[in-house]
Amino acid sequence: MKKIQISPSILSADFSQLGSEIKKLEQGGADLIHVDVMDGHFVPNLTIGPPVIKNLRKYTNLPFDVHLMISPVHKYIENYAEAGADIITIHPEATENLKESINLIKRLGKKVGVSLNPKTEIKTLIDEIDSVDLVLVMSVNPGFGGQKFMPEVLDKIKELKKIKEENQYHFDIEVDGGINFSNSKIVLEAGANILVSGTTVFKENDGNIKANIEKLKSM
Ligand code: DX5
Ligand code: ZN
Repeated sequence: MKKIQISPSILSADFSQLGSEIKKLEQGGADLIHVDVMDGHFVPNLTIGPPVIKNLRKYTNLPFDVHLMISPVHKYIENYAEAGADIITIHPEATENLKESINLIKRLGKKVGVSLNPKTEIKTLIDEIDSVDLVLVMSVNPGFGGQKFMPEVLDKIKELKKIKEENQYHFDIEVDGGINFSNSKIVLEAGANILVSGTTVFKENDGNIKANIEKLKSM
């Protein structure tokens, strides 16, 4: 069983102190840093882009798990690779050719993820699933932190785990949105091995990041 990894989302961090917030995540035991990139077009919110990621790179050696909620995405992939992303995750709806975008990310020497919104079915990526490093299952509709976990995605996680085991695929199953201390165990049992969390990591236990990450890992 792969060990549980926590990828805290900096969307819930203090955006005026992102560098020190990332340091706190590393010191708190985070395995990856989940960077939510939003363009106000693919999702109704706007966050950060390549210049900010480039400046944050020096604050940690942890992998930057960059979640691109932007469209069109293909022409911007190289900018995020150059800015210091380690994993680049895209939404199938945001590219005209998923296979080409996946191949571009791999050519740039980065790990590639594909994200499925709650309403997006596994068949959307099934032809490419053997070539991705990560499937990011959205358990909220993308755009904002602090939303409620959507339990209907548990079946999708179980199905992905079945496909992975039956075919000995290597992709990680990461779940993103509304993860907290009461649902993380059921999400892991369904087959996830990476949990994204913003609100729970930054806000629970009076903002004790280390305690919150450890508690999520102990599930
Ligand atoms: C939402 C983002 C998520 C979100 C998670 O569009 O992709 O990563 O920030 O935040 P919480 O854990 O607060 O739901
Ligand atoms: Zn995300």
